[in-house]
Amino acid sequence: MSISVSRLGVLASGRGSNFQSIIDAVKNGKLNAEIAVLITDNPSAFAIERAKKYGIGYIIMMPDEYASKDDFFRNIASELKKRDVGLVILAGFMRIVKKPLIDAFPNRIMNIHPALLPAFPGLHGQKQALDYGVKISGCTVHFVDEAMDTGPIIIQAAVPVLNGDTEETLSERILKLEHKIYPEAIRLFSEGRLEIDGRIVRIKDSVSPDNSLVNPPLKNE
Ligand code: GRF
Repeated sequence: MSISVSRLGVLASGRGSNFQSIIDAVKNGKLNAEIAVLITDNPSAFAIERAKKYGIGYIIMMPDEYASKDDFFRNIASELKKRDVGLVILAGFMRIVKKPLIDAFPNRIMNIHPALLPAFPGLHGQKQALDYGVKISGCTVHFVDEAMDTGPIIIQAAVPVLNGDTEETLSERILKLEHKIYPEAIRLFSEGRLEIDGRIVRIKDSVSPDNSLVNPPLKNE
């Protein structure tokens, strides 16, 4: 079966606001892609409600029903392949992806992280940034490799850290940009405009970097 780069498989564990931003981008024609399936490891993920609302098929897959983590990810890969998925989107998927899925989709798995990688990988990127005292943070869309949050970076967007910020206020500011850059990264991929050279991702045919994404106005919105 031919793989279509614009058929997306989304993996999410929670509320799915990034999933929603992708649904919206598809619906309003900004992203010429189709969401083939949502796979979740959490039966009470709000992402499921979003899938239902938009008639997107979903699968609940629990890792402890498989003999090993590798088997779990092998099964995810097989469900995605069955649906002709060409790009896998991690949207708040709270697990480290294992080799069987990575090998099945080389440079075809994206993740979004709520910090400017390589700073503050792993859980609670926003809190880590706040506790460290950085003045600028942001979000990163990257390809996924076998380690945590280390794959080639596609797009980043920056926000200021303001006096009095809490984890919640900073997370909210970052999330607004997540919802812009994730659909944008997927759009670039689906248009065949991402060129990967080692760990460098070049965006073809663009006046790069797009200033509005990389340097959003530094004001308190
Ligand atoms: C986002 O902050 C994303 O950067 C991180 O997990 C969170 C998921 O949020 N990977 P949502 O489920 O998309 O609302």
